[in-house]
Amino acid sequence: MKTVSILGSTGSIGRNTLDVVRQFPECFDVKALAAKHSVTLLAEQIREFAPEAAAVFDENTARQLEPLLPAGCPTRILFGAEGYTSVASWESASLTLTAMVGAAGLLPTLAAIDSGKTIALANKETLVMAGSLVTALAAAREVAILPVDSEHSAIFQCLQGQRREDAVQILLTASGGPFHRRAREEFAAITPAEALRHPNWPMGAKITIDSATLMNKGLEVIEAKWLFGMPPDRIRVVVHPQSIIHSMVAFRDGSVIAQLGVPDMKGPIAYALSYPDRLALGQPLPAFSSDMPLTFSDPDLAKFPCLDLAYEACRRGGTLPAVLNAANEVAVNAFLQERTAFMSIPAIVRGTMDAHVPVDDPGLEDILAADGWGRQKASELTSSGDR
Ligand SMILES: NC(=O)c1ccc[n+]([C@@H]2O[C@H](COP(=O)([O-])OP(=O)(O)OC[C@H]3O[C@@H](n4cnc5c(N)ncnc54)[C@H](OP(=O)(O)O)[C@@H]3O)[C@@H](O)[C@H]2O)c1
Repeated sequence: MKTVSILGSTGSIGRNTLDVVRQFPECFDVKALAAKHSVTLLAEQIREFAPEAAAVFDENTARQLEPLLPAGCPTRILFGAEGYTSVASWESASLTLTAMVGAAGLLPTLAAIDSGKTIALANKETLVMAGSLVTALAAAREVAILPVDSEHSAIFQCLQGQRREDAVQILLTASGGPFHRRAREEFAAITPAEALRHPNWPMGAKITIDSATLMNKGLEVIEAKWLFGMPPDRIRVVVHPQSIIHSMVAFRDGSVIAQLGVPDMKGPIAYALSYPDRLALGQPLPAFSSDMPLTFSDPDLAKFPCLDLAYEACRRGGTLPAVLNAANEVAVNAFLQERTAFMSIPAIVRGTMDAHVPVDDPGLEDILAADGWGRQKASELTSSGDR
């Protein structure tokens, strides 16, 4: 029986994780949960999984949650940054699944690593912002970081039983998102509703917009650099609209190993939860028929400049990736609220990156300061329309 704590339990990854737990109650025991404001769903999860603790964003949200729980409910209700840190490092849990969205995941993930928990990492922004700190702390605490992102789970699986020095290239697959075939001239008119319609993967709003701009793939390049120690010039993005091959690794003898499966996050989530075991998930196999050819192409960087911006931040390093991430979060939020256009997202990120003077070998304070600075600068660019 594995004991788990889930950060972001009410989100897309969190709900899929609880589906896996529900399917294998003999394998997993949920000890702690955390969400932001979704109190109705969190209360249902508390009733079903009876965790020892649950954390929400602030005291006011905790007050809204408490009356939704049964009388005498033993779950301790926590809130705020301390609440999230407590859930992340909850004593009776051995594994922490980090599925908060955005920069909010960084400090709880660091707390989980510091307390020696095995990490099932969905929150890619943590590695984008602070990859060197996170991987150094994990090495010092001898903590495993098991990827939940389907591409990184695929790479992790392709590398099983291989020598790392034999791997020469990572081929990171991308669906291309909803606008893969749309003409560049039509991008100005893209609405949030259209961008939120991902062709293959149902996901939370922020990552769905990131998938439409291909920033998600850029963030994944940075994530792959830190998880697998591969420099960015040896991480190639390949557009594969069917999302059946989740990624591949090329080896020095010219062999390429790929991991395939139907696009369903329960696969990579279950692998991270149960590693090194595999669970009998009952997923269908891909069709392997002539009706569904597997195709590949290069990404169109003129249409999707966010991918290039992420490569640039990855190569430059220091605090630039944290600034890229912060500016992107601000721009995506503004787009979702219809305060800015789809193609302003890369323009805001570009403008923010250009204005930043990166700090090399940053500590946590430098990264948090860069995150705050990036948000401020990107907000100014968003409201001034100077982009
Ligand atoms: N969805 C996918 O298929 C997928 C695949 C690979 C990687 N990921 C990564 O996994 C992470 C989660 O993605 P998602 O699609 O599950 O997102 P989501 O559906 O938007 O869920 C986000 C979760 O985080 C909580 N949350 C949001 N802001 C928070 C804050 N400031 N403090 C604390 N908790 C906060 C939300 O709580 P409320 O419900 O209360 O707002 C919710 O539980 C992201 O980093 C994403 O890049 C997702």
